[in-house]
Amino acid sequence: MSNSYQINSKEEYDLAYKKSIENPEAFWSDVADNFHWHKKWDQVLHWDFVSPKIEWFKGGKLNITENCLDRWVKSQPDAAAIIWEANDPNEESRTLTYKELHFKVSQFANVLKNNGARKGDRICIYMPMVPELTIAILACARIGCIHSVVFGGFSAQSISDRIQDAQCNIVITADGAFRGNKSIPLKSIIDEALITCPSVKKVIVLTRTSIPVSMLNGRDVWWEEEIKQVENKGNPECIAESMDAEDMLFILYTSGSTGKPKGVVHTCGGYMVWTNYTFVNVFQYQKSQIHFCTADIGWITGHSYIIYGPLSAGATSLMFEGIPTWPDSGRFWDIIEKHKVDILYTAPTAIRSLMGFGLDPIKEKNLSSLKILGTVGEPINEEAWHWYNENIGKKNCPIVDTWWQTETGGILISNIAGITKSKPTFATLPLPGIQPIIVDENGNELVGNNVSGNLCIKFPWPGILRTTYGDHERCRTAYFSTYKNLYFTGDGCLRDAEGDYRITGRVDDVLNVSGHRIGTAEVENAINMHSGVVESAIVGYPHDIKGQGIYAFVIFNGIHTDEAHTRKDICITVSKIIGAIAKPDKIQFVSGLPKTRSGKIMRRILRKIAEGETTNLGDTTTLLDPAVVEEIKLNRL
Ligand code: WT7
Repeated sequence: MSNSYQINSKEEYDLAYKKSIENPEAFWSDVADNFHWHKKWDQVLHWDFVSPKIEWFKGGKLNITENCLDRWVKSQPDAAAIIWEANDPNEESRTLTYKELHFKVSQFANVLKNNGARKGDRICIYMPMVPELTIAILACARIGCIHSVVFGGFSAQSISDRIQDAQCNIVITADGAFRGNKSIPLKSIIDEALITCPSVKKVIVLTRTSIPVSMLNGRDVWWEEEIKQVENKGNPECIAESMDAEDMLFILYTSGSTGKPKGVVHTCGGYMVWTNYTFVNVFQYQKSQIHFCTADIGWITGHSYIIYGPLSAGATSLMFEGIPTWPDSGRFWDIIEKHKVDILYTAPTAIRSLMGFGLDPIKEKNLSSLKILGTVGEPINEEAWHWYNENIGKKNCPIVDTWWQTETGGILISNIAGITKSKPTFATLPLPGIQPIIVDENGNELVGNNVSGNLCIKFPWPGILRTTYGDHERCRTAYFSTYKNLYFTGDGCLRDAEGDYRITGRVDDVLNVSGHRIGTAEVENAINMHSGVVESAIVGYPHDIKGQGIYAFVIFNGIHTDEAHTRKDICITVSKIIGAIAKPDKIQFVSGLPKTRSGKIMRRILRKIAEGETTNLGDTTTLLDPAVVEEIKLNRL
């Protein structure tokens, strides 16, 4: 890439940052000029953080898939868009060139149309990490349908909640998914979810694991057969729908501190510009490099840095179906060696888990193709950072520590690979366009360096969420009401003596387990569904691999013959309601919970106990019944 907006030196970063703050509209207008628009925007930015109302490139017309596909078909038709590595190393990998991907996306977009999809429809995608997932996503975007991808680890109940919230009319899934030595019966999970989803009229099912599935007459169709029908019609062309920059591109559900997950909404124009700009700059992507982001497309990292960022930059994106530890813990390193990966973007939890296997799995692997390493999802601890730097990067690859969120669409605070300095455990500096501010509890700005508090952003960037689907008020209260005129991230952070940012973790009731966001209220609700549970409280505690583990304090009055058995029952309940990722790591049965006189659970105390702190619990004078704390301390797991 030699885009006019690729930052090539520290001076250029400083200059770009300055310009983006002094004249954001001119800055982003210049960047946006590099894309293909049907019609230029009327106004670069219109915003207020009170409503909130945020519009970028309003009136501009485009289709994101033309920017991800068509323009590369013209200039580099045979360049690899996707390299796919299967779960099983013995299965052949697949490469889709830009030309092939364009063809398949158009073809499947026609399948969607044949099945009744119309512009503005919401389509739920519940699929394994196969190229057809990327094809399905882009096919939705091609015809102006709004995709809502649900991670393959979520339960039927969670899928149903999401489908109902967005009123999806089509589901795209597969018979099953391979994951390590297991397989997951996706279609049968969808069948269970759809019992409570009357809005769904069609289910398109890809063959992946060839397990037996039930296909409902009139509702369920096979992907392969639908493709044949389109083929028989000859011309696979599918003209890209002309979308307004502010039309919805997708919904992605994420947890907060209260209630059910909310549908974060991103729109076509701003999200495209933001994912592209951050991809090209943070990773310093160079033409024909291979970018390997290990996230699942079910999370925002996959949306932004497997699909939209890389493809809009004409890059080669490597997609991996499996898990890092199967068939053995050298799998990532095998993939890097086999495909000569240039950029590896993964999560601290994966690094810590692979660290645990020692250096043997790396010894014979040729990792010399690697040039840039990245991390995302949670704070990276010093030890993991150094291990990554020494054993994977061989001290030769800049590590970018990228801080961002589902709501931000793309990276906000990160060093720029090889251009701005990296500092272990620090995301370092804001990207152009990002104006972070640190505030105390009362919303007073903490100016200068060597301060810590709550992280907010005071000006919009093109990738910021626009709303939460179907409930704009919820968007306002969750992000824009805690502090006046600021976007509140929910993260704590510090700015050190040199002005570098270090994100220290959530300050709200949200946990970060293996880089996945889990709301404590959600887990508590799930546990409380168990018939014997009276009440529960969830807190996070430091976990060597997951970053945070889930510690549950549970009041139980059911039949309790065997605690171990009851714990398993509770875990199954949580798996059914949310998914296996939300299962508690520890369950302590208690006779009461520490509460204030007004009945509020004092999580601060529980958090300290879960962390192993038993002497200095802070102020306990407002407790209704101090004796309960003694009991909990005594029986700590
Ligand atoms: C939360 C967002 C961003 C995609 C993956 C997670 C934490 C994310 C970092 C980082 C410290 C980080 C924050 C944030 N987080 N990246 N580099 N350093 N913390 O997306 O599920 O929306 O979670 O992940 O706490 O708020 P998400």
